[in-house]
This record gives sequence, C-alpha cells and structure tokens, in this order.
Amino acid sequence: MAKNKKQNRWIVPDGQPLTDMDRRILSYQERGKLVPTRELIKTPEQIEGIRRAGVLNTAVLDTVAERIRPGMTTLEIDRIVYDYTTQHGGIPAPLNYEGFPKSCCTSVNDVVCHGIPNENEVLEEGDILNVDVTTILDGYYADASRMFVIGGQTQPRWQQLVDVAWECLKIGEEVCREPYVFVGDIGNAIQKHAHKNHMSVVRDLCGHGVGLQFHEEPDVEHYGHRGTGMLLVPGMVFTIEPMINLGHYQVCIDADDPTEWTVVTEDYEPSAQWEHTYVMTENGVEILTH
Ligand code: MF3
Ligand code: CO
Ligand code: CO
Repeated sequence: MAKNKKQNRWIVPDGQPLTDMDRRILSYQERGKLVPTRELIKTPEQIEGIRRAGVLNTAVLDTVAERIRPGMTTLEIDRIVYDYTTQHGGIPAPLNYEGFPKSCCTSVNDVVCHGIPNENEVLEEGDILNVDVTTILDGYYADASRMFVIGGQTQPRWQQLVDVAWECLKIGEEVCREPYVFVGDIGNAIQKHAHKNHMSVVRDLCGHGVGLQFHEEPDVEHYGHRGTGMLLVPGMVFTIEPMINLGHYQVCIDADDPTEWTVVTEDYEPSAQWEHTYVMTENGVEILTH
C-alpha cells in the first residue's frame, strides 16, 4: 500500500524567508496538529472591515435590547433588525441564507438556535430568548447573539442557565488570552464549567471562522479535549457561541418547522447561548462585536 502522505496545510511560498510565525506553525504541523491555511489569516485591512461590521452588528443588538418587551412578537424583533441594518448600509446575513426566511434568529426557551421570527410568537414574562444577529457591511461579516429574560425575571434555574452560558463564553475567551491555543482548549474549559453546574453542552452545532463569509473554517466546538482542533494564530477571526442546555445535550430539528432550520432540545428543557466574534492577536483575542 502506498504511504498515505499527509498534506501540509501551512505552506511557505517558495523563496520567502521563514517568519517566527511560520516556524511556530510549522512546528505544530510537524507534531501532527491541525493548523490553519494561510487563507484563514486576515489582513489588517480585512480585520478593520470586520470590525466596522461588528460595530453595526452591536448597534443592531443594542436597538433590539432597547425595544424588547413582553407582548412583542418575534417578528417585530426581525423588523427592528432588518430596518436598522439596512438603514445603516448593512445587509442582514441570515436573510435568504440557505433558505432561511428572516433577518435574524429568535430562539425562545427550548429552541436552541436558528428559531425563525414569527408573527404568532408572542414574548411572555419569564421567557428566555436568544437573538442572533449577523451583519454584512461592505462585504465583511460580524456575528453575535445575546440572551434576553423577558420582563426581567424568570425561574431561578433558568436564570442560572442564562448566567452559566454567559460564563462559558467568558471562559472560552479567557482560554484565548494568548495565541497558539487550540479550539479544543476552549471547548474543554467550557464543557467543564457547564458540567460543574449540572448542565450540558450542545454538540451538533459549533462556533466558526467568520469575516469574509458567514461560516468559514475552523469549527469551534464547545466541548472536547485540550490540544485537539485547530491551532488559533494571530489574524484568525472566529466566533465562540456555546449553546448550554438545562437537560440533556441532544437536539433535533423542530418537526413543526417546514424550513427545517429550527433546532430544539429533545427533552423540551430550555437552552441558552451567547456569541461574540473575535480576532486573535499577538496578545490574545479581541472582541469585534462589543
Ligand atoms: N448566526 C448563526 C451562527 O451563529 C447562524 C444563523 S444561520 C441562519 O452561526 F441562516 F439561521 F441565520
Ligand atoms: Co455564529
Ligand atoms: Co450567530
């Protein structure tokens, strides 16, 4: 049998001197680690473009936060997102993305993610809602989501779920306070925190590279083992977006959704998620969706 020669991903162009970054990445590659390709490293100009998309994306979420109230429908939230985004020169990335029919995702209670805004879905006090907004500005993408507790109060255990999901995002960020960490380091730390709180981590959906497209390499799983997954090096832009369940981690597609986008928990227990877009720098990650 022919030797199965592993393809190098990190390629130094012929005649180009090796930089410190090249050397560092090549040494991981030689040890069999998954390293990025050059295309995943954004230029400073691209990072500035994604940063501008991030500023608009944050303004959209802030506008939603100001207006959200009990009695509102999720379709009204979608309107706010569409109007604010387009009035400021942006495009809502979800709209018509692989058949997604609306401008943002609104995921209530046992909806894990990709909930579709709906005129018949009225927000009630005690509901927990994730609004996930992705904005395209001048061709650059930024992606973030937040949780909202409708009416300000919910059951203590649901509030805990919202808080733990937030802490999981911050713990993932903390792992990235320096470059040359692995995606699996993030996932491992998040998983430990969720389990400590007797909650579970969704496995079927993950964070992702972002910036020039909606979803790029790498997959950012929120569970797993340290030292696995892709190496994160300066210039990479990606999301962390842990989905944390109060019950079991298993999810399925909502049978009532003909578009087959809506992801729900199998056990009908609630789920919570927060998301930011980050750029890895020489000094660790910086949030682009503040
Ligand atoms: N914003 C989601 C994410 O964080 C993706 C939504 S895809 C859509 O990756 F089509 F449902 F909008
Ligand atoms: Co995302
Ligand atoms: Co998102």
